[in-house]
Amino acid sequence: MPKVTFIHRDKPAQTVEFEHGKLEYLGHGLPESFLDVAMNFGIHLEHACGGSCACTTCHLIIRKGMENLSDMEEVEADRLDTAWELTTSSRLGCQAVIKGDVVAEFPMYTRNYVQEGGAIQLGQPEVKEKDPKGDEVRS
Ligand code: FES
Repeated sequence: MPKVTFIHRDKPAQTVEFEHGKLEYLGHGLPESFLDVAMNFGIHLEHACGGSCACTTCHLIIRKGMENLSDMEEVEADRLDTAWELTTSSRLGCQAVIKGDVVAEFPMYTRNYVQEGGAIQLGQPEVKEKDPKGDEVRS
């Protein structure tokens, strides 16, 4: 049973285990990918494109167990090239299929090309405030 640890920046790590072939497939990402596992265990992993390898919001940095993941296909490599905070250990959570124990860390930022304007998505939505003249300013 693969053990999957998700390291968050702002809360304790979460570790889950699953049995191959026993997860309910919820239709997002490849079966038994990080995204599929996260959704089965109620762990929030952004997936703006629905797991179709079109955004990079599911970007994860693999800290252990890279050899326990499926090989990277060209479509994932091409999309991953556009990810914020790209590392040599980066994978897309919707495309990397888990075959053994792994530890993955959420990056500080993700880039969401699906959102209008292709904005960089931080941990929290951008909140706009108004200055004394009534013009919007960034908070
Ligand atoms: Fe969009 Fe993985 S969810 S690329």
